Amino acid sequence: MASEQKAVFDLIGRRYDESFVERDDQLAEGAWLIEQLDRPARVLDLGVGSGLPTAKQLIDAGIDVVGTDESAVMLELAQAQAPGGSYLHRDMRDLSDLGEFDAAVAFFSLIMLPKADIPPLLSGVRELLRGPRLLQVSMVLGDFDRFPISFLGVPTEASAYPPDELRQVVTDAGFEITELREVAAEAEPNRIEVQIYLRARAL
Ligand SMILES: C[S@@+](CC[C@H](N)C(=O)[O-])C[C@H]1O[C@@H](n2cnc3c(N)ncnc32)[C@H](O)[C@@H]1O
Repeated sequence: MASEQKAVFDLIGRRYDESFVERDDQLAEGAWLIEQLDRPARVLDLGVGSGLPTAKQLIDAGIDVVGTDESAVMLELAQAQAPGGSYLHRDMRDLSDLGEFDAAVAFFSLIMLPKADIPPLLSGVRELLRGPRLLQVSMVLGDFDRFPISFLGVPTEASAYPPDELRQVVTDAGFEITELREVAAEAEPNRIEVQIYLRARAL
């Protein structure tokens, strides 16, 4: 369960959506997922954040979304901006009692975890998938583990993989990668970063 301590994104809150405005690639991923899923469909959004853009996009398309996040502030935003989802205030590594899902998405959230925690989380997610058994992940391209960064002025840590290492980690967790692409995007005003979008299917 999430502790009473303030989560990093409690301090970022609404500023996240205001600064990270270039979400075209993430929206394209959501549109692809919407096309893949018959209804009813159930999607787990790990580190759902403010609900924008993905939870709202999926909910508007008639998909049931369960979003987990350690930040109460981000979940309040999600409730307001993407109503209709089930939002759980918990660590995304806690997969207990969530039920089964047709797909799981983790857009820019695994990046907040130590690398050691990512393979077991992906293996656990795989166990929750049924039907189309899809996984979508986005990360920032890089090669670091729990590296101290300042995100919108708030100190935190981040992890990142080179593409081949991310491919290996996801494959080792029991998935087949169906697409991996790199894009350049403006993540904060005047800061361009290279991002990786990955699609996979559980074997
Ligand atoms: C960069 S934001 C991405 C939010 C959203 N997925 C999106 O696409 O905009 C990372 C989110 O992960 C959440 N987060 C970070 N570490 C977490 C953890 N261990 N468990 C649950 N949520 C976490 C943060 O609170 C934040 O909302």
